[in-house]
Amino acid sequence: MNRYHPPEKYGNLNDDVSSILLSTEEIEQRVRELGESISQDYADLNPLLVGVLKGGVPFVADLLRMITIPIEIDFMAVSSYSKETRDRGLVRMQKDLDEPINGRHVLFIEHIIDTGLTINYLLRNLKARNPASLKVCALFDKSRRRLIDVPLAYKGFDLPDRFVVGYGLDFRERYRNLPYVGILKSEVFHATNND
Ligand code: IMP
Ligand code: MG
Repeated sequence: MNRYHPPEKYGNLNDDVSSILLSTEEIEQRVRELGESISQDYADLNPLLVGVLKGGVPFVADLLRMITIPIEIDFMAVSSYSKETRDRGLVRMQKDLDEPINGRHVLFIEHIIDTGLTINYLLRNLKARNPASLKVCALFDKSRRRLIDVPLAYKGFDLPDRFVVGYGLDFRERYRNLPYVGILKSEVFHATNND
């Protein structure tokens, strides 16, 4: 199959990673399986896939191409006001969906669920718009940190309670472009300067 193969070297980004938790191949294989399941379950339903900017971009882009039925996509962007307000579940919507979703079969595509507070806010918001159905596909699940139960129809991987980067996940907006999921070296993670 004619798939994108990332380069071996990512300059000094690679050097900042102490260990790789999920390789490019593992992620690709799991995303392929998720795409196959979604294609079976949503055949004839013309689902709307809703992704979350910015972290969800690699997952949405790869998942889309593993889905073999007609779909549409849309995006939302959110930000937490601060760590403290995020912990209370306060989320600010930076970009809403382009189209109404009433009567649509909506599949919410989330790259990572940690406490669950962000997605809980978004799901409540979407549910109020009366979709025909609303389910969640999450690639990474840090279930041990969950504060609010989030039913997952599709799940990629369980992750330990560690801060990880890559495949969309950032540390201070960097590392989203790494094609794998890894753990940062502690001196990088604990550095106080921005560069
Ligand atoms: P939640 O509201 O606690 O579920 O927060 C989820 C958000 O926290 C994600 O959308 C990410 O932006 C961020 N996040 C959680 N864990 C990690 C991580 O290990 N690395 C990078 N970002 C993370
Ligand atoms: Mg972030």
